[in-house]
Amino acid sequence: MGKFVIEGGKSLKGEVQVGGAKNSVLKLMAASLLAETPSVIRNVPKIRDVFIMKEVLEHLGAFVDFQDHELFIKPSINNFETPYELVSLMRASIIVLGPLVGRFGKARVARPGGCNIGRRKINLHLKGLSQLGVEIRLDRGYIEATAKKIKGGRVFLEFPSVGATENLIMAAVLAKGETVVIDNAAREPEIVDLCNFLQSMGADIEGVGESILVIRGVDCLSGVEYSAIPDRIEAGTFLLAGAITGGEVYVSNANPGHLELFLMKLEEAGLEIEKKEKGILVRSKGYTNSIDVATFPYPGFPTDLQPQIVALLSLAEGISVVTENIFENRFLYVDELNRLGANIEVKSNRAIINGVKELYGAPTMAPDLRGGAALILASLAARGSSEVLNVTHIDRGYESIEEKLRRLGAQIERVEFKEEEAWANETTT
Ligand code: UD1
Repeated sequence: MGKFVIEGGKSLKGEVQVGGAKNSVLKLMAASLLAETPSVIRNVPKIRDVFIMKEVLEHLGAFVDFQDHELFIKPSINNFETPYELVSLMRASIIVLGPLVGRFGKARVARPGGCNIGRRKINLHLKGLSQLGVEIRLDRGYIEATAKKIKGGRVFLEFPSVGATENLIMAAVLAKGETVVIDNAAREPEIVDLCNFLQSMGADIEGVGESILVIRGVDCLSGVEYSAIPDRIEAGTFLLAGAITGGEVYVSNANPGHLELFLMKLEEAGLEIEKKEKGILVRSKGYTNSIDVATFPYPGFPTDLQPQIVALLSLAEGISVVTENIFENRFLYVDELNRLGANIEVKSNRAIINGVKELYGAPTMAPDLRGGAALILASLAARGSSEVLNVTHIDRGYESIEEKLRRLGAQIERVEFKEEEAWANETTT
């Protein structure tokens, strides 16, 4: 158990490097199960979700070695079940369904429940797989998927779900001699990364980065060495750390092409942005304009940066409206921000943000990963001392966030404590 103790009001300056994309690496790890030989994945962040996915793969029989941001995965699979103990720790574990059924014709994966940000249904994954000839049975909390052969055909996704697109791609790549078309596919950079990884393994995928993917099944795939793309959400979070503290931060190893709309919005909010080939600089002009933002599937504004931009806009001049279109419950952190002095009202899927002149330090509780990041940002800008509890949520997606922020001049410490103390904290904050 742990918390961050933050002394706010310091302007952040300097350079920070982002790691590999969490949402890409988790899928590359699952995809490595499709190959007959081992793979090496580079630029892997040391975050909780990667360690959980490592356990998932090991449970399936794979040998996984993780050292120095590099994963070695030998896909020696001898078990086809992913238990609830692992899926309940990380719902993205559902992503092994596609590769298992695609390569071995069978999988039994615990059905993930919702999480703090929404119901997180998986109906599109299951419907799409059934359309490819996979027989799906729901058995006491488990999804049992079996297929003698993956059938070719066209799957039209009712919504461009990231996870459903990825599960379908991975189920289809080994459908020997069959062609699978995924229409209205998600186009996130992490999906492009997955397709590039699979192509380097020998997969035949046309339309990468577009909303119609044509996958021609091949006989087998071989392991490869591959480096994951940079984490655009981590990059966006650090840019906002520079912005909200009135500072100047250069985020290196970031791809500005993955953050087009986000960077446009920062400019609209009055920040100076310089896009470099391998990095992004943000410079504050000492004020923030109010702006409106609406989250949408890529290339729209990323829902995973919604809480963090709300933190910035809580200090803008005027009223901003932020609309969340992807998840039904992604404003849990707002009450915590209001405890720091923000003035935000949530109406249905909109946050109406009345900018305030300053925030003040207070103890807060991270309700989820990105909501937790937003609380760190607000605490960095707040006058006085703040605490952000429940840092395990934040550790799921950010490697050593406090060390990286400290290098930019932030005053932030991690304090570990025992569970009983956490309980005492929880009941008093
Ligand atoms: C992934 C990302 C997450 C990001 C999200 C949207 C990972 C590990 N996580 O999550 O960080 O916020 O994309 O960019 O990559 N839906 C259905 N039925 C389905 C599938 C999804 O109704 O079968 C709904 C979900 O409940 C949600 C919306 O579609 O409201 C988006 O979900 P999806 O795009 O699938 O996100 P994930 O893959 O879960």
